[in-house]
Parts: sequence; C-alpha cells; structure tokens
Amino acid sequence: SRLVAPNGPYAALDVVASTPSTNADLASSSAADRTVLIALEQTAGQGRRGRSWSSPEGGLYLSVLFRPAGVPAARLPWLNLIAGLALVRVAQSAGVEASLKWPNDLLLGGGKGAGILSEITADGSVVVGIGLNVAKLPADVQPAPGGLAPTSLEDQGADLDRGELAFRLLVELAGLEGVWRKNGGDAEESGVLEEYVEHSSTIGQRVRVELAGGLELLGVAQRIEPDGTLTVRGDDGQDHGVSAGDVVHLRP
Ligand code: BTN
Repeated sequence: SRLVAPNGPYAALDVVASTPSTNADLASSSAADRTVLIALEQTAGQGRRGRSWSSPEGGLYLSVLFRPAGVPAARLPWLNLIAGLALVRVAQSAGVEASLKWPNDLLLGGGKGAGILSEITADGSVVVGIGLNVAKLPADVQPAPGGLAPTSLEDQGADLDRGELAFRLLVELAGLEGVWRKNGGDAEESGVLEEYVEHSSTIGQRVRVELAGGLELLGVAQRIEPDGTLTVRGDDGQDHGVSAGDVVHLRP
C-alpha cells in the first residue's frame, strides 16, 4: 500500500515474502478495486483445474483484485485473456518471443513460462492470479499431466529481476484493463480482441478439447468471439463454442 501513488492505477500494493496463495488471500478479502498482492514464494499455490502451482523462491506470484462496476458479468472472463496479453508484452520487452496457447498459457520457446488463474466471485469481483517463471528451472522439472514442459524467462535468455518484471507487468495490465473497462468490457472496441488474435498460437491449429462433462472435441480452432469463447470447427463440420474453462490441447 505504501508503494502506490494516490492517482495511480492501483489502490494498494503489498509485497510479502511468503503466503499460501495470493489468489486465496485476495479472494477472501474486502480489499478495494485494483488491489495488488505480490509474493516471493507461495506454500500452497493454486493452478487451474484444482492443480497446485509450484511456487518456489525465484518466480513471481502476483494477484490483482478487480471490481469492474459497469462491465457486464458475461465479459469478465476477458480479464483472464487480458492478463495473458500483459505477459506477452512483458516477455517481448525482455527480448523473448512469446505467444498464448488458448486461453492463457504463456508460451516461451515452446514451453510454458507462466500460468494464469482467474476467479470470478458471486459479487462480480475478479481475482486475476499470475505465476511467472523467472529464474532458471531445475533440469528435472516435470510437465503437468498432458501439459507443456515448463520454462522460464531466464531459461529463454532474459535477465530481468522480479521487481522490474512486476513493475512492467502491472503497468501493462493497468493499461489494458483500463481501456477495456472504459469501453464497458467490450473486447472489440477496446482493441484487446485484435491484440489477442495477433498473439494466439492456437488459431488455425488442430486441437483436441476436453469439454466439461468428460466429452472430447476434435477439430480446428477458427477464431475468438467477442464474448471470449474460442470457436472450434469439429471434424463433423459443426462449429462449437469452447469456453475458457475447457482445456485445449494441440492435437498430437
Ligand atoms: C495454471 O494452472 O496454469 C495457473 C497457475 C496460476 C498461478 C498463480 S501464482 C499467483 C496466483 N496465486 C495462486 O495461488 N495461483 C495464481
């Protein structure tokens, strides 16, 4: 809280040495819109689909609480994709080529450099949690089941410290989110849809999608819709809308 300017984009910013999960901390707080929490390690980091997120010292673990009054609930999942765009901008500014595997895995040199876990609460608040691999990873680190091999910015040749990376990430996130919110969460009007498509490595690819309920869809990813869903043309010729909660694999 001591680090933010009164007229800056964030209401408060705290940095802690260690906490179980920055997402859990903000999700259960009554903190103001645009509150930031950064941890240097997490002891119970949460990943998508109930997985854990390994969070040793050397990575960057950051969550932002947004309470975007005026944005319809159906558009809130865009925050998830916007956080991915902020990460792409930061990786590129560090000289590392980056793209997004839908919905929001940050790909660096074919590996996963960051993950994002967004949680939307009943009152229309969103906690956006970002885990960025910064320091070199041990050579024996294992991919998640069916997942991508993890990599880090340092593994990809970048050498920025966590403070500089956190600063850049928060600047990019504030810029993107601010424009998006000013446009009532409209992804086309605010330009985030176009920027997302530009950095998507999934569009045009053959994919296998695990849909909720254990169903599977094989097809080709066509486009991102203004509501944030991915349209996949199934091998049956039918278009299916895939939501951010479903898991997309590039088809082996
Ligand atoms: C994924 O499974 O890819 C998403 C990982 C998200 C990890 C971040 S680290 C900061 C925030 N706090 C958590 O407990 N999880 C997210």
